[in-house]
Formats: sequence, C-alpha cells, structure tokens
Amino acid sequence: MNDQLIIFDTTLRDGEQSPGAAMTKDEKIRIARQLERLGVDVIEAGFAAASPGDAEAIRSIAGIVKNSTVCSLARANEKDVRAAGEAIKPAVSGRIHTFIATSPIHMEKKLRMQPDQVVEAAVKAVKLALEYTDNVEFSAEDAVRSEMDFLCRVFEAVIKAGAKTLNVPDTVGYSIPALWGERMRQLIERVPNSDQVIWSTHCHNDLGMAVANSLAAVMNGARQVECTINGLGERAGNASLEEVVMAVKTRRDVFNCDSRIDTVQIVPTSRLVSQITGYPVQPNKAIVGANAFSHESGIHQDGVLKHRETYEIMRAEDVGWSHNKLTLGKLSGRNAFRSRLVELGIVMESEEALNLAFARFKDLADKKREIFDEDLHALVAVEGNVDTCDRLKLISLKVCSETGETPHAHIVLSDGGNELSTDEFGGGPVDATFRAIEKKVESGATLLLYSVNNITTGTDAQGEVTVRLSRNGRIVNGQGADTDIVIASAKAYLNALNKLFGAEERAHPQV
Ligand code: KIV
Ligand code: ZN
Repeated sequence: MNDQLIIFDTTLRDGEQSPGAAMTKDEKIRIARQLERLGVDVIEAGFAAASPGDAEAIRSIAGIVKNSTVCSLARANEKDVRAAGEAIKPAVSGRIHTFIATSPIHMEKKLRMQPDQVVEAAVKAVKLALEYTDNVEFSAEDAVRSEMDFLCRVFEAVIKAGAKTLNVPDTVGYSIPALWGERMRQLIERVPNSDQVIWSTHCHNDLGMAVANSLAAVMNGARQVECTINGLGERAGNASLEEVVMAVKTRRDVFNCDSRIDTVQIVPTSRLVSQITGYPVQPNKAIVGANAFSHESGIHQDGVLKHRETYEIMRAEDVGWSHNKLTLGKLSGRNAFRSRLVELGIVMESEEALNLAFARFKDLADKKREIFDEDLHALVAVEGNVDTCDRLKLISLKVCSETGETPHAHIVLSDGGNELSTDEFGGGPVDATFRAIEKKVESGATLLLYSVNNITTGTDAQGEVTVRLSRNGRIVNGQGADTDIVIASAKAYLNALNKLFGAEERAHPQV
C-alpha cells in the first residue's frame, strides 16, 4: 500500500463555516501561504459558488500558491462546478471537490431526490469537473448514515466517470473508530477498481472522535485525511490537522505512512489561524495548547530532567514551540522589519501598506520594550486587512474607572470620514466604551462573545480582544490588539462592526 498520507486542509472552507470565522480575502491569502509553508498537499480554499468574493479569494490563492494543490468545493450541479472550475484556473495544480448527500435522510428531506437522481447528478458533476481539471474529488455527504450498498454504487459510478479521490465524510460526527475503520475497509474491498483511486476520510467532532475516526480510516486504507488547523469547523469542528499528523509521525510503527508536513510550522500556523479567526486554542489542547508540553508535577519534572523520554513522546521544538522569540526592538529599522515579515510569510500588498505597518510597529515599540513574532502577526492581522470595509475608525478614547464611581468613556470615532464624539457610562470601562460606540452607530448588533488573551507574556504584553457580533443571522468576529486592553476592545468592536457592514450575502454549501 502507498505510504504517503495526503493532508487535505479545509480550514479555509469547512473551518470557515464556524460561527464568526468568516475571513477576508487578505486573511485567507495569509493562511493559504502559511499552509503552503506547512506543506499541506491540498488546500481547500473555499466554496466558489458561495459569493463572488469567495470565488475571487480562491482565484487569488490559486494564483499565489505553487507547492500545494488548490481546491474549490462545489455541490453537484452545473453552476457550482463551473464556478469552482473558473476559480481554480490560475493554479499550478487545481482540484474540484464536488459532493452530494447519499444518506436516506438527506436525499429525502434535504435534496428531495430519488437515489437514481443522486447517482446521475454525481456522475454528471464529476464529468463536468473533468472539463476543468483531471484532479477531481467526489464526496458522499453523510456517508456515515448512508446505506452501504448505495454508497458502493455511487462510488463505483464516480470512479467510472473519472473521479480520482473518493471522500467518505462523517458529516455529523456520529461514528466511532471501530465502525469507521470497518466502513473504510469494506468500501475499499467492495467497490470495483478501488485501487485506482485515493480513499479519503473527513470526520466531524460532535462526539469528540474526529481524530480517532480519521486514524481508524487510515489504518484501514484511507490515504487522504481532511482536517483543519486547531480542529476548527462547524459545531464541534473537524479532525485537527496537528493531531492527525503527529499521531501518524509518532506512531509510524502503527500507521505505516508519512505525511509531507513540516511539523515545525505547526505552532505558527495554529497561532495565525487563531489570531485571524478569533478562536482561541484551549490550553490543554494536544500539540498546540499552551500546556501541551509543560510539566507541572514535581515527579514529571524530575523525570523529564533526568531523561526526557520518561514523560515526553514528542519534542516541543519539533512542532514549532519556541519560547517567545525576541525579534525586533525600538531601534530596529524598516529593513529589519520588512525582512522579519518576509521570514514570517507576511506579504504587505504595497509600499504604502508596509509604511503604515512600520509606523504601527514603531508606535508599539514605544510602549513595549521587546517585540515578538506574535506581536508582528497581531499587528498585521488586526489592522493590515486591506480589503476589510473600514467605515469606522477609532480616533481617540478616554476612560475613567475609579473605585466607588461609575466608569465613563469618551470616544471620538470616524464614520466614513465624519468625526463623531460621545460620552457614556457603563458597568465597567469596556461596557462604557461599547455603549458609547453603539450610541453613535446604532448597529442593533447583539454581542455574542467578548474575550481577551495576552499575545505574549508580561504585563506590558499586547492584549488581543475578540468580539463576536450578530445581526440578522449574520455572525462576525472582530479583533483588536493593543497594550491597553480597553483600546484593544474598542478596536475589536469597531473591526466587528466594519465586517458586519462589509459582509456580502453568501451561500452555505450544505444547507
Ligand atoms: O462534512 C461534510 O460532509 C462536508 C462535505 C462537503 C465534504 O464538509
Ligand atoms: Zn465537513
């Protein structure tokens, strides 16, 4: 059996379906570049038919990424497949991933189609996709609840039609490892010509078994795993790329295959995705959680000091953990700043954008003695979004918080170039600030989440604030970073409002 495990990353598509994780084109490009550096084989860059903006983001990524295949999702219909085909045209290596649901419940209640019609639509979509690329993947959505005989029939038909990768999704996160592995084994055994295609697995984490199920599929012949950074994804998320990759690498004796992933890029990628989407990583998360390699108990510490392998099965540095790396300081010049951004894979769109970022860096360096890579990522992640609608900007903020007094905020904003100022009281300085913004902007949005994380350590660290807002069914995350967390909060709130005002209508592939 082939010993290469293909890593198919769907952070930019399935991951982006998480509430509020919608990204701008610029953010998607930054993540795609980092995924390429990480060495993923296939980047699912989006769902082209969702909106013109989504199609444009895929086209841009297809034009930039050279060492990974760039893929677009498409439902099994002509409009979607053509949109995907057009979007991946600039790619050195492009893939169309078309899908249709095959379970009785989805066919009857969602698609309102007969099984024969589903087979016909699948075959037609694959044949049409082949007009754009010979790299076509087919997924049987909700394969976990599909009847085995029907699943075999659909897969046989799409192999004949020319699909090269067959993906078996546990769309609703329902399976358990023993059953999922067995399903993969049976499919490979029963479907004629199954040895001419790559079998793939795509697992959701509703019962916390996405990674275990994916690995069970690998043990039974799957050679592609669909996964996301930090396990991001709808509901409980998808299988986490870092866990799958490190399991296969650490237990090669069990899995007998290897991926192309450059594992030292795992932690930087995790941080970038977390910063851009506003989804923090839980401290006890395997591989990328802050505590994943820290040993609290005296017995463990003693053991690790005497002989590392007593308690460690992986080395922190192999997955990219380095202690906050001091990069730049107050005296660093524009060239040092530019070179570090290039080393981090951050490409500024123009000299003007670089100059603005450099000015922000100097500003930060005045407040904070040491600037780390994480600070630079936050600097460009939060404010370097060239394509975010920036109707609202913070001009100044004064807050007063005193024991025994009601906190008060005075804010000056620019709304499309018009200066607005107002005052408001609140339960705390952040509450007063948000109330003051709303008093002027009257967005009517509901605050779903407010969270603060420190980007590096120390009391002079930048606080990174995430604000999740919802309005008319649309959910967005805004981010703000500053050494002053009230200012970071105001920036995050305005960033979320800008996203809310700038968001375009998008179709969801699975609804
Ligand atoms: O979960 C799922 O079934 C999917 C398909 C579109 C592959 O994301
Ligand atoms: Zn999915």
